[in-house]
This record gives sequence, structure tokens and C-alpha cells, in this order.
Amino acid sequence: MEKFIWNNDYSVGVALIDEQHQHFFEIANEIIDLADKKETGKEALFAYLGELGDYSLYHLGTEEKFFDEFKYENAPQHKVAHDAFRVTIKEHLDAAQNATTDDDIMRLSEVAAAFTGDWLKNHILVMDKQYTAFFHEHGL
Ligand SMILES: [Fe+2]
Repeated sequence: MEKFIWNNDYSVGVALIDEQHQHFFEIANEIIDLADKKETGKEALFAYLGELGDYSLYHLGTEEKFFDEFKYENAPQHKVAHDAFRVTIKEHLDAAQNATTDDDIMRLSEVAAAFTGDWLKNHILVMDKQYTAFFHEHGL
């Protein structure tokens, strides 16, 4: 499966957020790598899936903290997009973690990672880039 390569087109112009987005892609890539290896144990995969879930919440929370602090006017619709992601990523992670066969665990883990990477690429380009100037005005 194709991996997610961050490049400058994905920069939102805020170093802290760019680093978090890069780390997000790295976790997705780790899962894709692990799921491609036949000898991968499910414990290793589950550890990364857990990290994907935890890091998602942490990252979205970082952006929302700034929205609240700076009173960002597009916050409501941006949070709706985040909430939709929170619901769907949880469904993907639950599906992978509740799968019973090794093949299903691998396949559903890749689905979760691919969903995350694809969502993030699109979300950065469409929504996150809208806050760049606003965040800059507030000192980020
Ligand atoms: Fe966002």
C-alpha cells in the first residue's frame, strides 16, 4: 500500500501543527509497514493502532484549543469535521481491534491507516490551511 509522504504543499505555516501532521502521517505509515509484513505480531499492530487513536485526539485537541483561545470564527464547522473524523476513526480502530483472524486484523489496520492518511491530506488542504493567516495574527 502506498505510504503518505509529507511535503511543503501540506504546510499550514505553523511549525507546531506541521510537526503534528507529520507525526500523524508517520504513525499511519508505520501501520501500513507493519501490516505488510507477514511476521508482524498483532500486539505490535495494536500498539500503533492505539497510538493512532490517542494521537488523533491529541492533535485535534491542539487545534481546537487554539480555536477557543483565539475565538476562531470558523471553529464550529471545523469542529464538526473533526468530530466526524473522531467517530469514523473509532469505528475503524474498533473493527481492527475486534477482528478475529490475523488476516482481518492486518487488512482492517491498513484500512484504518489509509483512512487516516487520506482524511488528513484532504483536511489539511481544505480546512486547516484556512486558519493560517488567523493563527499568524495571533502570534503562532
Ligand atoms: Fe483540523
